[in-house]
Amino acid sequence: MTLKDVLDKTTLFFKNKNLPSPRLDAELLLSDALNISRMEIYLKFDAPLKEQELEKCREHVRRRSGGEPVAYILGYKGFYGHDFFVEPGVLIPRPETEFIVDEIKNKLNKDDALNIIDLGCGSGCIGLSLKKIFHRAQVEMVDVSEAAVRLSEKNAKNLNAEVHILHKDVEKLELQTEHYDLVVSNPPYIAKDDKDVSEHVKEYEPHEALFAEEDGYYFLNSWAEKAFHALKPGGYLCMEMGYNQAKELKTKLSDLGYKNIEVIKDLASFDRVILAQK
Ligand SMILES: C[S@@+](CC[C@H](N)C(=O)[O-])C[C@H]1O[C@@H](n2cnc3c(N)ncnc32)[C@H](O)[C@@H]1O
Repeated sequence: MTLKDVLDKTTLFFKNKNLPSPRLDAELLLSDALNISRMEIYLKFDAPLKEQELEKCREHVRRRSGGEPVAYILGYKGFYGHDFFVEPGVLIPRPETEFIVDEIKNKLNKDDALNIIDLGCGSGCIGLSLKKIFHRAQVEMVDVSEAAVRLSEKNAKNLNAEVHILHKDVEKLELQTEHYDLVVSNPPYIAKDDKDVSEHVKEYEPHEALFAEEDGYYFLNSWAEKAFHALKPGGYLCMEMGYNQAKELKTKLSDLGYKNIEVIKDLASFDRVILAQK
């Protein structure tokens, strides 16, 4: 069988399984299994595959056809220009979360010695991306999940980023008053009875990273309140939220005393990020 045969067959197989991006997934998985780039697939189209190579491809294809996310099979995911290690038990970074980094890049000065904290850091994608931009910043990152903390440490080492990572429940965290220039977070914000969450996400990704009580608002509200005390006057809070949570959250932030509240849309035009100043 040639590489082209395997690519075509895999694409069709994924399509028949109703997976959302069959061709892209097939290319990513085959290039990883064969240890070549996606471009090389097309350059080696007519190359016959050895049995050993086919076996590696089959293993990847079998996992994906069961709905396992490509990023868990590959072991990494690109985010804001860097590759982050990912593993089951820790949320895969999402492209819409990159808007958080974009917004902060626009608001803060990259030469300032800022104090930044990332609440619920997961793989470390937000905090570490920020550290790579704001080189002089002191970046702290916190997560209640041991797996997330371990992975953030691994990613920090891989990206050569000096940050302080804490294994702690944010609910029990005492933050220094008026210390931070930025509190950033992508907290769990999905309502427990949300019917729109895909079955594959529910099956493979950690529920404690996704779901929150009080119709998804619990951590958004609680961490925004905690952040208010911890921010310096003029400091920023920046959080990701659900597409339908902007109105209620704006009211909550305003009640807490935040000003200059802005809502930023993602590429699909959904309200996605909320930014406010103390
Ligand atoms: C939506 S994920 C975001 C992960 C990462 N920041 C990202 O954007 O991909 C939320 C994270 O919050 C963490 N988390 C949930 N409850 C927490 C708590 N009480 N204290 C600290 N972290 C918590 C989860 O373990 C998870 O890693």
